[in-house]
Amino acid sequence: MKSRHTRGPKPMRESGADIYRRARRLIPGGTQLLSKRPELFLPEQWPAYFSRASGVCVWDTSGRRFLDMSHGSVGACVLGYADPDVNAAVKAAIEAGAISTLNCPEEVELAEMLCELHPWADMVRYARCGGEAMAMAVRIARAYTGRDKVAFCGYHGWHDWYLSANLAGEDALDGHLLPGLKPAGVPRGLLGTALPFRYNEIEELETIVSAYKKELAAIVMEPVRNYNPEPGFLERIREIATEIGAPLIFDEVSSGWRLTTGGAHLLYGVTPDIAVFAKAMSNGYPMAAVIGIEDVMQAAQNSFISSTYWTERIGPVAALATIRKYRRCNVAEHLIKVGQRIQSGWRAAADHAGLSITVIGIPPLAHFSFDYENGQVIRTLFTQMMLERGFLASNSFYATYAHQDSHIESYLTAVEETFGFLAEVVRRGEVEAHLKGPIAHTGFRRLT
Ligand SMILES: Cc1ncc(COP(=O)(O)O)c(C=O)c1O
Repeated sequence: MKSRHTRGPKPMRESGADIYRRARRLIPGGTQLLSKRPELFLPEQWPAYFSRASGVCVWDTSGRRFLDMSHGSVGACVLGYADPDVNAAVKAAIEAGAISTLNCPEEVELAEMLCELHPWADMVRYARCGGEAMAMAVRIARAYTGRDKVAFCGYHGWHDWYLSANLAGEDALDGHLLPGLKPAGVPRGLLGTALPFRYNEIEELETIVSAYKKELAAIVMEPVRNYNPEPGFLERIREIATEIGAPLIFDEVSSGWRLTTGGAHLLYGVTPDIAVFAKAMSNGYPMAAVIGIEDVMQAAQNSFISSTYWTERIGPVAALATIRKYRRCNVAEHLIKVGQRIQSGWRAAADHAGLSITVIGIPPLAHFSFDYENGQVIRTLFTQMMLERGFLASNSFYATYAHQDSHIESYLTAVEETFGFLAEVVRRGEVEAHLKGPIAHTGFRRLT
């Protein structure tokens, strides 16, 4: 008998491309998350919608099955899709009632677990999305210091405090993960309140600090993302934050639960005043946590930070089940191993083919780029060819516990073949001729 895993759902009538055409008329921008826009992968050909997901497999609405070797829902499912242990806990929570007039005790249990895993932290608040939790963390830091300005590095979501950086010029956020973000709708009064510095460029933060020492409410950054911290970088940031009395906020929305059971900062021996988690902590169920030292966290009470759905039960229950499994199975070790194999596989395939690529990222959040003027055209053709071979693949690979040797092997075999073909058409200057649709978009672009 065929397993349920491979049989897949009944095909629906509409293809992903058809649904997306309808979506574009009804939903500004077509999707809710920029990173899931089909145009970013493969315009007009990307399957766009899923009917089912399990482990590393995704079925589109026409019933086609793909192996997901891309960003795995932008890193939301660290154990793999529809993890049976997390789902069992969630189903039990649904049966028991997902919300009521009273609070769910699991939020207290989860707070204890998060503080146990991060012994520097004393208190916890929750939200349900990463950007929302980051906005909460910044509000708490502003309430604590009574100051307005925030020095930051990297991407932290869509909220006003962050996007206001681009009021100073629409390229201020370029180089912080998503280029081209437009700040329309963000009050101009916030101009000058979000001040960017680049990772591993300590002088840029020092310049901000020397100009605004007494006005900084927080230093906000990911402890690690595309590059490892240079020796002394995080330590110096910690020193500066302490000197100026501004809480150091580590955004662990993406870096958390990849390298260790908890925040990546646990590896570097530098403790923040606040750390923020979302995504991987609950394996795809909405959940986010802001953890911090008591002194700073108590400032939440001087402001108003409150929301109905922050009290529902599914998020905490999913987080408890995810973290327990993560610990039990030593998931971090698996993610690092898988990510390293993919990164070295990319390098080996490129060397063999004679293609020039650059690989970056901590192993569980790996990226590569084609080092050519028409790199985006080559990347589009790569995605097209991999899709034809049954893979959701772009230039990012986010490892999950569900990625096993067989997936890695079949993926890397397809990468080798594809890179070989790409090298050939690059040499002949014929890359674009092989595209069956438009070139993929790079950053934010308004859809017309
Ligand atoms: C570092 C970081 N912070 C914040 C966010 C925003 O999280 P969310 O998309 O859940 O709002 C992201 C999402 O990619 C992220 O990577």
